[in-house]
Amino acid sequence: MTRPFLSVVIFTLFVIVAIVGIGELVTRVSGEGGRRPAVALISADITVEAGEAIFWGRGKCSICHAVASRGAAIRGPDQGASGPLGLPIGARAAERAKERAEATGKTFTPTDYLVESVTDPGAYVVKGFKNEMPDPTRPPISLKPNDLRAVILYLQSLGGRPDLAAIRLPERLLAIANGAAPATEEWSPYILGDAKKGEALFFGADSNAACGKCHAVRDRGGKVGPPDLTQVAGTWGPKFIVESILDPSKQIASGYESVLIVTREGRYVSGIVKKEDASIIEVVDNRAKIQRISKAQIQRRSPQKTSLMPGNFGEILTVEEFHDLLAYVLTLR
Ligand code: HEC
Ligand code: HEC
Repeated sequence: MTRPFLSVVIFTLFVIVAIVGIGELVTRVSGEGGRRPAVALISADITVEAGEAIFWGRGKCSICHAVASRGAAIRGPDQGASGPLGLPIGARAAERAKERAEATGKTFTPTDYLVESVTDPGAYVVKGFKNEMPDPTRPPISLKPNDLRAVILYLQSLGGRPDLAAIRLPERLLAIANGAAPATEEWSPYILGDAKKGEALFFGADSNAACGKCHAVRDRGGKVGPPDLTQVAGTWGPKFIVESILDPSKQIASGYESVLIVTREGRYVSGIVKKEDASIIEVVDNRAKIQRISKAQIQRRSPQKTSLMPGNFGEILTVEEFHDLLAYVLTLR
């Protein structure tokens, strides 16, 4: 008599547990209820924390983007509340999505915008910035689909709600997840350089290169104006680097454009504007020295089309020196 009764109770309990369990899963998948989204369902690695680590680490995002007071704010939009539109990226994405929907005639969710900006950075270029964000799905950054999902979760979390289920990556990237190799840059040096010799050229104040006069690498070299090169080869491929050295004015990094200032006494100063307020302007000149000029002294100020970086390294370096230098710069990841 008691046996069937007990099985009914056990069966009912089982059904209740199953329903509650499924409900819990569904809530997690849709990211409702203030919980973290269905992280464990796709992969335990896709979390806001993992995305944050990628943003500040191997994704190289913080070389160009700040969040609040952390990271670099010279080249790319701040991803925190001091960024464009006065909104952090997780909230700003909703405004951008409306704009993209209008421009393309397609539906764009805020997350679709984040996916587009991280997988196809040139598709929409934020006003006031240059199209110079490297595609992080390609070498040397080479983020994999799950890395991208994590980084997008982190972006969503800045002013919005992390929602893994909303992240739809383009087909070409899903193919990578299924084993296809990502495209690599076809490039090989003309001759193999010696990175040790290159390092000496880079930092030697009297060498033909003397790059360290302007550029910092970790705690060495000039820190006042030009871009820090500590991770340059981990951010861009060799072609970009070769071009930056031989033809620096072809594509000038944003925030590092030169101005020419002529003072009332007829003094010419050209360099990168480092600091500016109502009365004073500070300019880093081509010897990497800071020049302070009172605004009352300025007669003319004009933006320059040429980089502060000398454009004649192709002539002053020997072929061997150039390749030694390149071999060194390519170790900076
Ligand atoms: C070398 C500099 C650089 C790096 C590295 C870089 N970005 Fe950017 N990023 C930019 C610039 C410049 C823009 C603005 C121009 C544009 O929209 O393409 C931008 C725009 C964006 C935007 C759109 C912002 C907005 O206001 O709509 C997002 C999102 C973004 N980047 C995310 C990332 C993430 C995530 C990474 C790391 C995986 C990254 N970026 C790496 C330079 C960079
Ligand atoms: C007088 C200062 C100066 C010297 C010397 C100099 N550079 Fe630069 N360099 C700059 C400035 C300013 C920029 C940013 C503007 C631009 O993109 O041209 C730059 C940009 C670069 C970039 C692109 C970095 C990026 O993040 O976009 C590379 C690579 C580079 N320099 C390498 C070198 C090497 C290698 C040498 C030595 C052979 C060198 N530079 C010497 C000032 C200098």
